[in-house]
Amino acid sequence: MTPRLAVPADFPVVLALNEGSVHFLSPLTPERLARLHEEAALHLVIELAGEVVAFLLAFREGANYDSVNYQWFSRRYASFLYIDRVVVSPNARGSGAGALLYRRAFAHAAKSDVPWITCEFDVDPPNPASEAFHQKFGFRELGRQLVADGKKLVSLQGAAVSSAMCK
Ligand SMILES: CC(C)(COP(=O)(O)OP(=O)(O)OC[C@H]1O[C@@H](n2cnc3c(N)ncnc32)[C@H](O)[C@@H]1OP(=O)(O)O)[C@@H](O)C(=O)NCCC(=O)NCCS
Repeated sequence: MTPRLAVPADFPVVLALNEGSVHFLSPLTPERLARLHEEAALHLVIELAGEVVAFLLAFREGANYDSVNYQWFSRRYASFLYIDRVVVSPNARGSGAGALLYRRAFAHAAKSDVPWITCEFDVDPPNPASEAFHQKFGFRELGRQLVADGKKLVSLQGAAVSSAMCK
């Protein structure tokens, strides 16, 4: 399992993975994914036995991205890598794919002299797997906000980019 850069041929599987976890994410259409792919600083996938089983999409500051969570960080931080979404297929979870993607993101940030990795996860309704996953990578809460017309409370998180995370 080695992360590689996503290419347009991966988009149908990326869309299906996103849809499978859409209750924790925002929905994507083929057009929106193609636009976000162009705007992204990092769009990675992982294959297992020839099938894409995981993806990660991340943006640097200054991207043209209308996400209210991305905009929360944009208003407060000059330099960051925002992980917009990470999804591992249900039958590939717990085998380190998410961690591999995050290690690549931390390495990318370190190489680009970006001091912070940011992201958010749902706290109401909760996403305990995501919370545990992010704790493992040293994330801490920077703020909270209501999104999705007040239906979701998210925790806005940040982790300092240190060489220990990039191994
Ligand atoms: C969150 C997610 C990406 C984790 O991916 P994963 O490949 O299963 O995670 P890994 O196997 O790399 O786990 C790394 C660490 O995260 C923690 N972790 C991951 N899943 C966990 C779970 N269900 N419960 C508790 N801890 C968990 C563990 O500390 C684990 O380390 P360990 O295996 O040494 O104990 C995956 O559960 C997922 O795709 N969820 C649905 C989409 C989603 O919620 N994305 C995040 C939106 S913010």
